[in-house]
Amino acid sequence: MPTVYLETYGCQMNVADSELMLGKLAAAGYSHTEDPAGADVILVNTCAVRDNAEQRVLGRLGELKGHMGPNTVLGVTGCMAQRLGPRLMDAESRVSLVVGPDAYRSLPELIEGARRGERTTATDFDLEEHYDDFQARRFEGVKAWIPVQRGCDYRCTYCIVPYTRGAERSRALDDVVRETREVVEQGLTEVVLLGQTVNSWNDGTRDFGELLRAVGAVDGIKRVRFTSPHPNDFTDSVIAAMAEVPEVCEHVHLPVQSGSDAMLKRMLRRYGRAEYLECVERMRAAIPGLSVTTDIIVGFPGETDADAEETLSLAREVGFDDAFTFKFSPREGTPATRMPPELTVASEDVDRRYTELVTVVRSIARSRNFQRLGERREVLVEKVARRGGDLQARSRDFRTVMVPAESASIGDYLFVELTGTTGFTFTGTPVAQRAALPVAG
Ligand code: 5AD
Ligand code: SF4
Repeated sequence: MPTVYLETYGCQMNVADSELMLGKLAAAGYSHTEDPAGADVILVNTCAVRDNAEQRVLGRLGELKGHMGPNTVLGVTGCMAQRLGPRLMDAESRVSLVVGPDAYRSLPELIEGARRGERTTATDFDLEEHYDDFQARRFEGVKAWIPVQRGCDYRCTYCIVPYTRGAERSRALDDVVRETREVVEQGLTEVVLLGQTVNSWNDGTRDFGELLRAVGAVDGIKRVRFTSPHPNDFTDSVIAAMAEVPEVCEHVHLPVQSGSDAMLKRMLRRYGRAEYLECVERMRAAIPGLSVTTDIIVGFPGETDADAEETLSLAREVGFDDAFTFKFSPREGTPATRMPPELTVASEDVDRRYTELVTVVRSIARSRNFQRLGERREVLVEKVARRGGDLQARSRDFRTVMVPAESASIGDYLFVELTGTTGFTFTGTPVAQRAALPVAG
């Protein structure tokens, strides 16, 4: 059997796509290998969202060349493949396959062609494609990534995704439910529903709230999460489903991007600071113990110190449980790159604001975590921790909790008291049962 090695960069959607590709290739007679050396096919599934993600891939392609024999096929898939197309083959002469996110169905044939010496780019969009008949080859033992929507119809001015993943399309509810049933049969008990603006999912008659209810109703499913939503798509119906479906976890990752109205407007986020805060309020009122995490960009064109200050104050006002912070990276072809050059923020200002932001979001997260010491949580054991031999588990509100190795196995649920924290992760001491659970939050 020919072997395939695959590396994944970027978001969970890419992880899910990698699982689909490996499933498709397994069906076509390829066996998966974790070692690039000696692999017949090397695939790199890439991200284009920031320049540093792309630079890492380019560097990695150079390294992977060292593992290639004369007949090894090197292919690039994902968002960078879609964005650069044949330019990738010019950049790296050993690349013979460039395949965008909507063209994975033909991967086996494309690889066959490449093994015969062809060099092919496949980057057409296919607005019907959900890969419904693919059997994903899953790597996570306890939770399943389930794409429910592909593409994006928002046009945030910094973002490359609408160009790399095309127009938004929702997958059929029955297919999502069927896949949820299948993963439960395989012993997984948590699903993470994926989409670029996942809560805008709709099939013409039903909305994302109804999808959450349908997935939560699958026998044996214990936890339902989703990522990433857009604030404007949190209708009352979606929030009610989050509140009422017991399987839906008390966590929302709600990208804000900036706390300044002027920046939000220039980013075309389609909400202002007040609307974002109101959205968080509505959710917190409906869902006790909800943890809220976010994405923030600093240094977007035209950002002033006062705008950056507004972001800090928003972070304090919301009290984010965690935040991913990014320096603005101009992406070719996006509206942000056509803004007047005098709006460009000097790199020393970006660096300073970034450092300040990281300091503030970390201190908020720390203090929120210290407040939680002594509380109890149900945790799902996900894996062996990288250090110390403990097991790494996760609470419904998305906190990372280390539990002693002897107390459980991967895939188990157990109750713990949060007895220690580094400020970021917790140590959990197993407790007998659910009784007298202090309410989270
Ligand atoms: N520069 C920096 N960060 C970006 N993101 C998206 N596009 C860019 C860009 N051009 C961030 C946003 C988004 C996250 C996935 O990546 O914060 O929510
Ligand atoms: Fe995911 Fe966006 Fe990166 Fe594509 S560009 S891999 S959709 S984060």
